[in-house]
Amino acid sequence: MGTCDTYLFLSVVHIFILCFMAKVEGLNKTISGFYVFGDSTVDPGNNNYIKTAFRSNFPPYGRDFSNQVPTGRFTNGKLATDYIASYSGLKKEILPPYLDPNVINNIEELMTGVSFASAGSGFDPLTPTITSVIPIEKQVEYFRKCKKRMEDAVGKQRTENHVKKAVFFVSAGTNDFVLNYFALPVRRKTYTLLAYHHFLIQHVEHFLQELLAEGAKKIAVSGLPPMGCLPIMITLNSPNALFQRHCIDKYSSVARDFNLLLQHELHQMQSKLNMSNSDAKIYYVDIYRPIADMIQAHKRFGFDEVDSGCCGSGYIEAAILCNKVSNVCLDRSKYVFWDSVHPTEKTYHNLFLASLHTIDFIMNN
Ligand SMILES: *[C@@H]1O[C@H](CO)[C@@H](O)[C@H](O)[C@H]1NC(C)=O
Repeated sequence: MGTCDTYLFLSVVHIFILCFMAKVEGLNKTISGFYVFGDSTVDPGNNNYIKTAFRSNFPPYGRDFSNQVPTGRFTNGKLATDYIASYSGLKKEILPPYLDPNVINNIEELMTGVSFASAGSGFDPLTPTITSVIPIEKQVEYFRKCKKRMEDAVGKQRTENHVKKAVFFVSAGTNDFVLNYFALPVRRKTYTLLAYHHFLIQHVEHFLQELLAEGAKKIAVSGLPPMGCLPIMITLNSPNALFQRHCIDKYSSVARDFNLLLQHELHQMQSKLNMSNSDAKIYYVDIYRPIADMIQAHKRFGFDEVDSGCCGSGYIEAAILCNKVSNVCLDRSKYVFWDSVHPTEKTYHNLFLASLHTIDFIMNN
């Protein structure tokens, strides 16, 4: 190699190194992993691996995935967390369920992110007992196991750095009201609505403390949706549900009250963290407004059906009641809800778009 060639060669190497460093610096600003906890709104199929009736790993669920694969997601395609995972660059397409045997022992998948969420779960420990699903407490336990696997693979120090730069996200609470407090007498006998709010908030706080204790520095907490607009709530609580279907504000206002209390609690926790010189950040993610907008201003989003789901009659079907013999609406993009409880993929995508500024903020701070 002549001097000139050597020089050229070194320059190329130099450029490579500069590019690599720029990339690493860029990565510093983004996130290292994405860990999700909660209920069916963020469960990609963990319930396929446990004994529960709260499942959706059969048609027509997953109808709009390529090959129409029912993955265990309670919708026709992707969840908002799938869009976030691919937007962040951590995943190509989807955020996988932790309990999938192809995931639980795959260090690459565990590092970039998984969901521990379980459909039917909630902050109240009684809720997952009613539904025989994975309690949030157990989901955190799974994260500890996941962290242990990472430590075994890349060492304690690297795992600690990794966890610091990861985003933790929780979406739960609707089942605590819809399947538990409103549906069964147990909690109502002991707690007024206000007392139950505080009871749930205590559990949220405990959960967040556990994540902080594991080294989490970026935690996002979703609020509740307008619960009175869920098709099943309209069906069960309207005097004439076949002909007069409107959101029932009594239940949506419970969600609004809870969301206010939740924001207050998160703010207080943030203040305490600041005072103890912690650099941990807790974010609130509003899903109430975007969903209420999609329902109220439905034409703007191209939706025609806002008060019944796409599967079956749309009034009562969810989980096993929405199955391979159910009629499915032709144009899913015209529906806010896929079944009587869960949003369509399009609604999840709109939710992702509506939260994009918050997501960018979390990733860059
Ligand atoms: C916590 O500290 C951050 C700066 O690190 C600041 O932006 C935020 O407003 C503080 N929050 C509270 C609730 O004190």
